[in-house]
Amino acid sequence: ALAEKGNYRHFMEKEIHEQPEVIARTLTHYVDPFRLVVRPFESIDFKQYDRILIVACGTAGYAGQVAGYWIEQIAGMPVRNEVASEFRYRDPAVSKRDLALFISQSGETADTLAAMRFCKDRGLTTAVVVNAAHSTMAREADIALPTLAGPEIGVASTKAFTCQLAALAMIAINAGRARGHIDANREKELVTGLLEAPRDVSKALEMEDEAKRIAGELTQSRSVLYLGRGVYYPLAQEGALKLKEISYLHAEAYAAGELKHGPIALIEENLPVVVVAPHDHLWDKTMSTMQEVAARGARVILVTDSAGLAACDVKREDVILLPDCAPIASPIVAAVAIQLLAYHAAVYKGTDVDQPRNLAKSVTVE
Ligand code: G6P
Repeated sequence: ALAEKGNYRHFMEKEIHEQPEVIARTLTHYVDPFRLVVRPFESIDFKQYDRILIVACGTAGYAGQVAGYWIEQIAGMPVRNEVASEFRYRDPAVSKRDLALFISQSGETADTLAAMRFCKDRGLTTAVVVNAAHSTMAREADIALPTLAGPEIGVASTKAFTCQLAALAMIAINAGRARGHIDANREKELVTGLLEAPRDVSKALEMEDEAKRIAGELTQSRSVLYLGRGVYYPLAQEGALKLKEISYLHAEAYAAGELKHGPIALIEENLPVVVVAPHDHLWDKTMSTMQEVAARGARVILVTDSAGLAACDVKREDVILLPDCAPIASPIVAAVAIQLLAYHAAVYKGTDVDQPRNLAKSVTVE
């Protein structure tokens, strides 16, 4: 069936708003809602592997980076994140005790597919988190782990990204249980937190007007800096990518702790700095970074939750207040804020939101 925009102005806007529903659908695929456990993957024995190699491109790669933090924390299993185009050409050292995990919305991205074939040739087990169920990667991987986002038409990925995060969280929990790194209570807590994500995302969508106002101001600048730590570092990168892709504003993301190693030289009066920082164990660190940029006149746009807001004593220009949610759901919820900022910045600038210049939805040739 041909996808329809319905009452929305762009597919991207529609796809942002579909997230509560498609995240719920994806979670339901993996969770036993009565026992509050993740259904085991019959085909993967996580004890058999020493490491997970995660390979992808673009937005899928940022989902993979979040998963890297999760898998190390929840399963105590080493992860290596790879950009497919680098991985495939450098004759990487891999082992049969690596589980090779690919992430792709389309299942057709040339570099990711080539990386998968390379791993297959080397005898590795290959798994793919994939949205297009009948794609080449879904067919060729040993194990296909679906995201149920439905067709994504907007070139800038939104709902596919949050569904990838949902599926990847399921992998982390499964690995954690299989390796005895988490107990049944912890699993239940994680699953319960994730099952609330669709509702949390709906609440996050309620701050759209605020995001729209802030987006309007972003378009007055030539450049925007995004900062985050831990799981929010890939979110900052995804935020900068979204903004570049569709609004054509220059944006750059840094791990907050790296600021002092260079990018702080860029901070000048009124430079917008989007700080993605729901409250967590790294909060104090992120706040001191925020202090440094604010002291140099940057316009801090803080994406946080109520605990972060209460703990923040740095001068900030604007706040996007996210609903309180479980830590495991928080990157999924924070994604909504950065999507809305980019979307509305693009609408202000009058760009072709669904088909930005020079970009393709899936890059099937090099
Ligand atoms: C293109 C798209 C991105 C996407 C990337 C990877 O660059 O514009 O939105 O993240 O390809 O695509 P895939 O289909 O492999 O997830």
